[in-house]
Formats: sequence, structure tokens, C-alpha cells
Amino acid sequence: MGEFSARPKWDELIKGEKGEYVHGSVYTSPQIFEEELEKIWYRTWVYVGHVSEVPNPNDFVLKSIGPQAVIMTRDREGQINLLLNRCPHRGNQVCLEHRGNRGSFTCPYHGWTFVNTGALRGYPFAAGYEGSDRSTLGLGKVARVGIYQGFVFGSFADEGPSLEEHLGAARGALDALVMSSPEGEIEITAGFLQHKAKTNWKFIVENETDGYHPQFVHASIFDVASSGIGDLYSADSTAVARDMGDGHTEIDLRPEFRRIGKPMGWFGTSEERLPDYVSKMRAAYGNERANEIMIDGTPHIMIFPNLFIAEIQIFVIQPLSVDETVQHVTALQFKGAPDINRRLRQQTMGSVGPAGFLLADDSEMYERTQRGVHMRKPEWNYIGRGLARERRDEDGHLIGDATDEVSTRGIWSHYRKLMEAE
Ligand code: FES
Ligand code: FE
Repeated sequence: MGEFSARPKWDELIKGEKGEYVHGSVYTSPQIFEEELEKIWYRTWVYVGHVSEVPNPNDFVLKSIGPQAVIMTRDREGQINLLLNRCPHRGNQVCLEHRGNRGSFTCPYHGWTFVNTGALRGYPFAAGYEGSDRSTLGLGKVARVGIYQGFVFGSFADEGPSLEEHLGAARGALDALVMSSPEGEIEITAGFLQHKAKTNWKFIVENETDGYHPQFVHASIFDVASSGIGDLYSADSTAVARDMGDGHTEIDLRPEFRRIGKPMGWFGTSEERLPDYVSKMRAAYGNERANEIMIDGTPHIMIFPNLFIAEIQIFVIQPLSVDETVQHVTALQFKGAPDINRRLRQQTMGSVGPAGFLLADDSEMYERTQRGVHMRKPEWNYIGRGLARERRDEDGHLIGDATDEVSTRGIWSHYRKLMEAE
């Protein structure tokens, strides 16, 4: 099997009783990638940015939905707009600044100007345009914009499931995440790093909730830092891999943190090291609730298809082509908590910064795997780890041990549903 003359047949590409065999060509076929753009990236809800990146009227920031360049603006009325960076005159990019504050954008080519809601404000030498309909000459807009706990998502489809429906069980993780701020809000204000890897985007999505690899791929950082992170992903770990449905997956580390029962243990530290944060949390939520929050820590969840919340940072996955993907990474910041925010930034730089210990290891695996699946045999990747011990939690979600591939299978079963749709 290689390239397909007709449309791909998914029962020939994902096989096995529980979809535990995935054909290598789904990572390498340009045709499948094109179809993914239409059926996933330009149809479902995709994470774009956070409201805290455009806090004031007329703020804007350049973002993306896959290969599409999107300008996220906050207009004069305070509404968030997702505009496509393409001039309706002859196609030039209208915005080149990465971020800023302006009420309008002027195209550098012939000077057409657009309000930050997308509407055409005017063009130079208007006398040449008698009879043309200005109302049809605005910037393209992402059809639907949805916001949940400050996280802004966009969908190119006019109709379809609501953002709340799409997020499903992942909503609970976002609700839990914001509780780590004494003010109940997350901010994305630390600035982004970009890592480009020569790999298919799905290898990255799979890896984010793969609890099997850390002991091997990240052995060096676990040794150097002598941290307890490695134990979270061992065969003895009480942590749980979960298929949350709708393509969302997580490694739920709370059972381990609760077993240890130490506030701020999830962050590799203790209450005494962050007195300001801890006292604000207690004042905001009361002793008991604050303790629970500070023991449980923040989620490790992959929100399909492109938002990975990795306890202390977020990754935004942007596919550019079938074998080229950018990860945009930034530290989470908890509103009203400057002492922990500084450490969140430092730990993010140490783990996924340019000289960081974690992401470089993962990226190397992504690229080697991409090269590997170009080999003709054995054709299939086997994601059957933990099949015989899959079980359901009290909410009915499939779970497995921390190192099991129940999460990976969850991603593929949702993916298949999306790709089989007309
Ligand atoms: Fe933008 Fe001509 S292409 S004004
Ligand atoms: Fe990793």
C-alpha cells in the first residue's frame, strides 16, 4: 500500500479488534494529509489562542489553524475575532507584525484598509471602484469562535457540534486547571518558543499522552534532576492513562500525587518554598480545598487535535505539511501568583527551552519515527499495549495503567470517525 488512487479506506488502514494496528502510510501520505486538513483542521474546533494574549480593545496577535495564518483580534467592542491573513484584493498578507495594538490593518500592496472586525474600511483612489460592493470585500473570517475558561477555539465550519460538546470531558480538566490560580484564571503571557520537527503531527499528538516512553527517552533528565517524575511513568505507578472520548486523552497523575499527599509535590517542591502562592491559595479557596488543589496539581491532557496542557506549560501543535510540524510552547501563568509564575517560566525553559532537556529528546524520536515509517515493512504500528487490562472508570471512560496505550487508541478511534465522515 502506498499512495491511493481512490479515497483511502479506513478499515484497511486501522485494523484489529480495537484498532490496535495503524498503517504507516497514514503518517506519510500527502493525500491523507490533505484530507485531514479538510475533515479535521478546517472542520472541527481547533485551539487558536487565549484571551489574555489580547487583553485590551484593538490588541491583536498572529496565530494559526494548521497552515492557515489567523489574526486574533479584540475589537473595539471587546469581541474576539479570528481573521484570515489574506487581502481580498489580490491576496497579499495584510498583517506582518507578530502582535500589537491597532484598530485597523492596511495592506502593504495597494493600501486597502480593514477594521479589526474584518470589514473593509476603504481603498485608495476610490473613484475607480464605482459599483463594487464593499460589503463583500472584507477579510475572511473563521466561521465560529468559541471560548472556554479563556481558551479561544475556532472552527471553519458554519455548523457542527458546539465547543462545549467538542470539549466534552476535557472541560473538567480546563475547569481544574484554572483553579491553580488564586484568582481562578490562567494567563498566557510568557511568550512562545517554536520548535519545528520533520514529522507528522499525529506522532506528536500520540506522544503527549504516551506514558510508556518517558523512562527511556527522558532517562537522562530523570537522572540529572534526580526528580521523582520518572516514577510516575513506571510499571508500578498508580497513575492512569485515560481515553476521555472525542479524541481527548490524558495521563491522570492524581492517584500518585494523592498517594504522596504533599501540597506542591506535583511541582517538585514543597509549600515552604512558595509561601506567597500557598497563602493566597488558602485565602482564596479555604484550607481544605486549597490543599486538594495543591496536592492534585494541574492536568496532563491532550485536547484533540492541537492543545496539549503539560502541567506547567502548553504546547500548540501546528501541522505545516505531511512531514513538518511546529510546536508552539509557553509556560502557563497563574493569575495573581508572581512567585510560582517565575518558577513556571524557569522550569519551562529548563525542560522545553532551546537548551531544554525534555523536548529535544522527544523531537529526536519524532523525526526518527517519521523516517522509520517510510520503510516498507512491517507496514503496521502496533498500539496494543494494555489491551487485556483496559477497564472503565466511574464515568465510563476507558482507562489503563500509566504506561498503557489506551490513550493512543482513543485518539485513533476518534480520528477514524472524523476521517470517515463525508
Ligand atoms: Fe492588498 Fe492589493 S493585495 S491591497
Ligand atoms: Fe516525552
